[in-house]
Amino acid sequence: MPTMGRIFVTRALPFAALDRLAAEHELDVWEGDLPPGPEAMRERAAAADGLLSLVTDPVGADLLAACPDLKAIANMAVGTDNIDLEAAAARGIPVGNTPDVLTDATADLAFALLLAVARRLPQGEAQVREGRWRTWEPAGDLGADLSGATLGIVGRGRIGDAVARRADGFGMEVIASSRRSGMPLEELLERADFVSLHCPLTPATRHLIGTEALQRMKPSAYLVNTARGGVVDQVALRLALIAGEIAGAALDVTDPEPLPAGDPLLEAPNLLVVPHVGSATVRTRERMAEMAVENLLAALAGHPMPYPV
Ligand code: DGY
Repeated sequence: MPTMGRIFVTRALPFAALDRLAAEHELDVWEGDLPPGPEAMRERAAAADGLLSLVTDPVGADLLAACPDLKAIANMAVGTDNIDLEAAAARGIPVGNTPDVLTDATADLAFALLLAVARRLPQGEAQVREGRWRTWEPAGDLGADLSGATLGIVGRGRIGDAVARRADGFGMEVIASSRRSGMPLEELLERADFVSLHCPLTPATRHLIGTEALQRMKPSAYLVNTARGGVVDQVALRLALIAGEIAGAALDVTDPEPLPAGDPLLEAPNLLVVPHVGSATVRTRERMAEMAVENLLAALAGHPMPYPV
């Protein structure tokens, strides 16, 4: 039996997996509904042997320097752009994530967003609720067809592949561009009727979709982002939507998160935004919590993490 360690869990997680962690280690669970701020994070993580973090928790070199006993970080997410991986590696701290289990849930949401923005679902719903549904109009509420349209996938990893499989079922032609394969991004942007983003956020992909990229897209094309908000330059997106340079955009992720209600982006037409819910299904979140717990249990017992970054 390994010696008991102290684990800082940055949010209450109502999943059974945590009981397994509590059976072997002492848990310090952040009590707030909102993420701990930088100071609270430093204070509470300082005495921790293990950290169970979420995408909302920046784990930078300064925080790591304040945690002399830290031996493992388990991020309950597949993305790890909230963690300074180099600083963790320099300190010999293994970092784990939760790949695969959220692939289908995220691909489903990408498709839900694509359909919603293409078929103008938010506008239709508002019309009904606000008493503006007058009759069946021959040319009212017209959207875009999926079948026969071209879907451009940017970042052909697990989630990009899962989106491509769904697109096949809808009779779409799929083209892709990623770091190592596929067509040049410029060509994809020019050809696609729908562009769906699935690349990680790195210095190379920050604002990958900016003014120039948006101008390459067809005026009839839609942008879907379920990757990370920072991949899109939101100032450029707002201007492109207002100018009609693209037909619409649907975002699960924004920069910052949460996007303030008064953010100028929200004034743009044909824009649908949901609050980073790509992995938000019961089974997916349960499994993500289990994987994070398995990563911590292994690392604190001196074994390799089963799901290392
Ligand atoms: C992830 O796992 O990276 C998602 O964005 C959060 O579910």
